[in-house]
Amino acid sequence: MRQPLIAGNWKMNGSKAETVELLNGIKAGIDQITTSEVAVCPPFPFLYLAEDILQGTPIGHGAQDCSREENGAFTGQVSAAMLKDFGCTYVIVGHSERRLFNGETDAIIGRKYALAVEHGLTPILCVGETLEEREQGKTEEVVARHLDGVLESGGIDALAKGVIAYEPVWAIGTGVTATPEQAQEVHAFLRERVAKKSAEVAQGVRILYGGSMKPANASELMAQADIDGGLIGGAALKAGDFLAICKAGD
Ligand code: G3P
Repeated sequence: MRQPLIAGNWKMNGSKAETVELLNGIKAGIDQITTSEVAVCPPFPFLYLAEDILQGTPIGHGAQDCSREENGAFTGQVSAAMLKDFGCTYVIVGHSERRLFNGETDAIIGRKYALAVEHGLTPILCVGETLEEREQGKTEEVVARHLDGVLESGGIDALAKGVIAYEPVWAIGTGVTATPEQAQEVHAFLRERVAKKSAEVAQGVRILYGGSMKPANASELMAQADIDGGLIGGAALKAGDFLAICKAGD
C-alpha cells in the first residue's frame, strides 16, 4: 500500500510574513491528518523558515527546483547539496512552467533528478501534456518521453527513489481539472511503463496528480487506484484548503 503524499508547490508567491502565517496555519492543523504524508515547497528564500517552523512536526519541506550542476560559477542557481543543508526532503524537477519559461529539456531534467537522488533528496518528477498535445492524441507519447528522460539518466533504481507527478498542463492554474477517469488513465499508463523495467518499482512508486486539485475534487481523484496523492498549487496557499486536501488523502 502506497502512503498518499500531498505536496504544496507554492510557486513564486508570498511575502516573509505571509509565509510564516501559512506555515503556522498548516502546522496548527496537521494533527488532524492521520495517513497522508504532507510536504510544502516554498520559494528558495523561505526554505529556512520552513526548516525552522516545521521542525518537530511530520510536515516535510522541499524546493521547487535545483541546479543541474554540482556547484561553481552558475550565477543565481541553487544546488541539491544546498537544499539538503536547508533540511529539504523533496525537490520538484521538470515542472511544466520550467520547461516552458526556462527551456528545460528532458536531458536537463534527468540530470537534475540524478543530482537530487545523489544528494539524498526525493525528486518529484513532473510530467504532462499540453492541451494541443492531448487533442492530437499525443498524451502517452509526451509523458513517456518525460519519464524516459529520468530512466535514461538514472535508470529504474533512480526512479525508485523519487515520486512522479502527472500534471496535465491544461489543468494547471486553470480551474479545469482532469476528470478522475482521465487522470487514472494516464497514471495507469505511467505505472505500466515503469513495470516494464521493474514490477517492484512500479508497485512502490507514488504517482501524484497535479492540476487544479481542490478540496471539492480531491477525494474522487485520490480514490482512483493509481493516484497516490497530489501536487497542489493555488489551493496550497490557503492553510484550510491545503489541509482539507490532505485530509481527503487519509
Ligand atoms: O505543481 C502543482 C501545480 O502545477 C498545480 O497548480 O494551481 O493547478 O493546483 P494548481
